[in-house]
Amino acid sequence: MPYKLGEVLLSRETIAKRVKEVADEIVRDSNKNEPLVIVGILTGAAFFLTDLVRELPEDMDVRVDFMSVASYGDSTESSGVVRIFHDLKTNIEGKNVIVVEDIIDSGLTLSHLLTLLKGRNPASLKVCVLLDKAERRKTEVKVDYCGFSIPDKFVVGYGLDCASMWRHLKDIKYVIEE
Ligand code: PRP
Repeated sequence: MPYKLGEVLLSRETIAKRVKEVADEIVRDSNKNEPLVIVGILTGAAFFLTDLVRELPEDMDVRVDFMSVASYGDSTESSGVVRIFHDLKTNIEGKNVIVVEDIIDSGLTLSHLLTLLKGRNPASLKVCVLLDKAERRKTEVKVDYCGFSIPDKFVVGYGLDCASMWRHLKDIKYVIEE
């Protein structure tokens, strides 16, 4: 295999501490009397999402749902679309929604997805990402909650994969390409 695991970028302790802080930011911004729909984008975000929602207080009305999508188009294509492999079960019309991603890179996936979800008329639509590779951005996306800004390096673990491997690592590590 042409890849091997490198140094730790973010340890499990560092991640856990920041996940709690992000959850606290969400609580601070949320109205506890209104349902909050947390939408995870499979597959990578499932790991972050499950830790994040368990840091939210018991008296919050939190709903969890998932989507599986693939984005098409690039920066030269203005009418990008997302293909939905698995859609939400939840009707988000009139609800407060936070889309949770493991990583934002070019921003194309989130950009297309937000356009699609806006069309379903949620009361509010926010974005929460664990990792932000801002220097890779091809299209502007407003990120409301961000765990860490990271350099443009290949990383895996805590949901992030390399050819479907290493998602299960507790720490986020660099990948060395041999
Ligand atoms: C990753 C990530 C985002 C997307 C970000 O998903 O979870 O969905 O790429 O990239 P972008 O900002 O350039 O659009 P991936 O396609 O790797 O799927 P996975 O979560 O199943 O690994």
